[in-house]
Amino acid sequence: MSNKMRAVVYDGPFKVSIGEVERPKILHPNDVLVKITTSCICGSDLHMYEGRTAAEKGIVFGHENMGIVEECGEGVSLLKKGDRVVMPFNVACGHCQNCEEQRSAFCTNVNPGFAGGAYGYVAMGPYPGGQAEYVRVPFADFNALKLPKGKQNEEDFALLADIFPTGWHGVELSGFKPGESIAVFGAGPVGLMAAYSAKLRGASEVYVVDRVPERLQKAESIGCVPVDLSKGNPAEQIKALRGGKEVDRGVDAVGYQAVTADGKTEQPNAVLEGLIAVVRPTGGLGIPGLYVPKDPGAPDSNSAKGYITFPFGKLFEKGLTVGTGQCNVKKYNRYLRDMIISGTAKPSFVVSHNVTLNEAVDAYDKFDKRVDGYTKVLLHP
Ligand SMILES: NC(=O)c1ccc[n+]([C@@H]2O[C@H](COP(=O)([O-])OP(=O)(O)OC[C@H]3O[C@@H](n4cnc5c(N)ncnc54)[C@H](O)[C@@H]3O)[C@@H](O)[C@H]2O)c1
Ligand SMILES: [Zn+2]
Ligand SMILES: [Zn+2]
Repeated sequence: MSNKMRAVVYDGPFKVSIGEVERPKILHPNDVLVKITTSCICGSDLHMYEGRTAAEKGIVFGHENMGIVEECGEGVSLLKKGDRVVMPFNVACGHCQNCEEQRSAFCTNVNPGFAGGAYGYVAMGPYPGGQAEYVRVPFADFNALKLPKGKQNEEDFALLADIFPTGWHGVELSGFKPGESIAVFGAGPVGLMAAYSAKLRGASEVYVVDRVPERLQKAESIGCVPVDLSKGNPAEQIKALRGGKEVDRGVDAVGYQAVTADGKTEQPNAVLEGLIAVVRPTGGLGIPGLYVPKDPGAPDSNSAKGYITFPFGKLFEKGLTVGTGQCNVKKYNRYLRDMIISGTAKPSFVVSHNVTLNEAVDAYDKFDKRVDGYTKVLLHP
């Protein structure tokens, strides 16, 4: 077999290409090599794509990976060649304190000096991404989740790598309880999965804020109330719909590249401000949306250092709780997989495009522009 393979390679801001790179090899007895069947493009990839991180030329993208085990290191005990698996985007060791406490996104072993590791992501450790023909999975017994054999539910299972658990986690971080109302900012894949999770978990009302019509329609299609940012202050719109009342919980599924109502200007604190305004006193905020310690393209000098201003006084006055950070995918993926198998959950309603790896350049361009209904793109080598 050739020792080269095709992969999505970052060339610089707004430029990716399909390059020939080294095919990964087993480097440790607990590694497996997975032949990719599906790898998704994520909103998080766009931060790198747009040159809004410290990502350097040459990095292979892809942290949402699924496929078939091709080769096992000699220390692997739970997996064998031919197993169908999906990997959490987190690379984690499974036995540090955070991993033992189900906080695998904050593994202290796989990426020293930084909280957590991931495939194909800037600052997340030396783990090439899986928007490629193969990916190496370290600590494979811990990091690969087995799936039923065959091709069934490929789109649903692929979303277990990141956005389904991350949406679920956003709701969890907000302190949500069944019967409560919740506002989700952002109807990208993560926001839609948070809204869907809230539905599955028994929310009485789910409001979803965005300005992209196709995305708002998807939110409406699962029984949520769409709130169009371009039509005015979203917190005020939600309160008006509720006779002046705030909601119990809020989720930020947008992050630091939040835009103003016209969509033309970035305002990094737009969502934090909205959440603090729309959640009731003693309610909770879940913030899975990404914020970075350094932003080379920030609209102001404070945000460039990761200093985002927001009404902390109001947050204090309301006694709101806040939870944030990367999702500990391992904590949820087994259960969410089983909800897919039993037919209780079908997250693939967010998938808008299935394309070949060779078409990734065009898919990045369109997904980045959020045009033509590009909501969630799945790549197949
Ligand atoms: N915590 C984690 O583990 C984790 C995992 C995956 C993704 N993320 C992050 O979650 C965020 C969302 O990911 P995605 O894939 O859905 O991204 P996305 O870019 O596709 O979606 C973001 C959506 O937010 C909307 N938006 C922009 N400004 C807004 C505002 N002021 N109010 C309401 N909506 C607004 C955009 O129109 C867009 O539809 C990103 O920041 C991503 O990096 C975090
Ligand atoms: Zn992702
Ligand atoms: Zn660990």
